[in-house]
Amino acid sequence: MNLVSATDENIAKAAEILKSGGVVGMPTETVYGLAGNAFDGKAVANIFEIKGRPQFNPLIAHFAEISDVASCAEMNERAEALAQKFWPGPLTIILPRAKNCPVSELASAGLETLAVRVPNHPVAKKLIKACGFPLVAPSANLSGTVSPTSPAHVVESLGGKVDMILAAGASSVGLESTVVDLSGGAPVILRPGAVTAEDISAALGEKVEYETGDSAKPKSPGLLLKHYAPKIPLRMNAVDLNPGEALLGFSSLRFIGIKGGGAAMSLPDSMRRNLSEEGDLHQAAANLFAMLRELDRPEHKGIAVMPIPDAGLGVAINDRLKRAAS
Ligand code: TXA
Ligand code: MG
Repeated sequence: MNLVSATDENIAKAAEILKSGGVVGMPTETVYGLAGNAFDGKAVANIFEIKGRPQFNPLIAHFAEISDVASCAEMNERAEALAQKFWPGPLTIILPRAKNCPVSELASAGLETLAVRVPNHPVAKKLIKACGFPLVAPSANLSGTVSPTSPAHVVESLGGKVDMILAAGASSVGLESTVVDLSGGAPVILRPGAVTAEDISAALGEKVEYETGDSAKPKSPGLLLKHYAPKIPLRMNAVDLNPGEALLGFSSLRFIGIKGGGAAMSLPDSMRRNLSEEGDLHQAAANLFAMLRELDRPEHKGIAVMPIPDAGLGVAINDRLKRAAS
């Protein structure tokens, strides 16, 4: 395992690894990605293998500049509008693959579409530029587990299996990118994230909604899967605790009691985290995956999560919690 600080020298080394078909743990503003050359079918196959990811679940191609995207995906008016407004940033757009798109078809999992994103992280940008090709990068965790928001999480999940991990601190957003489908028909949001339905609707001047979860055949294959799951049971909208449960709080913990007696405030530190004492959703999103990992211990009976407002960024947080609870 090769965990290194993301200096210019190490970014150059990582680019050499990627050029020769290797895989690299890459920091982004959302979560850490497991990056490989999008044009190299073998590297892409290796990513599926390392993550234990089903081959029907396609990957996102990451670009350094907006202008690089058009050679791989067919941009349209809506995509241009969202790109101008939200790129670089935590938004992924599903578009038709361009004619003669050089991205490995395996990355699209046989679909006619390609997911594209321009990340807002200086290290990711330098790395993609140094490669000269786009990088496919799913979150750098084993399929179905909680996404990594720090280099230590990547080491924990995939340490022995990647050629290099570029360490650049905690991911500032902390949730995976919003995924919006602009590949044809009415635009729809397949995965909620930091760019909200309200943000997208305002930028496009039309109402865009979240795909409802009850579709038997969701457009985003990844959403079929149980995702982001801790190993112990998770319960949402908890207003009190069962004995033995750990608490994932939001805002004040003062009024949370333990059934049979006791207060959450008196729990040992190991059983109690607060996503945001101030009730700030951005802070809560940034803390979510790290705190879930910290509370996910076999000695706890489960994780009880206090109610999170289901508006703005709260929609994305509740989406991840629902998947973790299912
Ligand atoms: O923030 C992120 O998006 C991170 C960082 C590393 O960029 N990446 C990430 O990738 O979360 P991943 O592979 O864990 O999630 C990609 C999601 C999956 O739900 C997948 O099914 C969906 O995007 N997706 C990818 N290509 C698609 C396509 N052509 N059509 C529909 N959904 C697609
Ligand atoms: Mg993932």
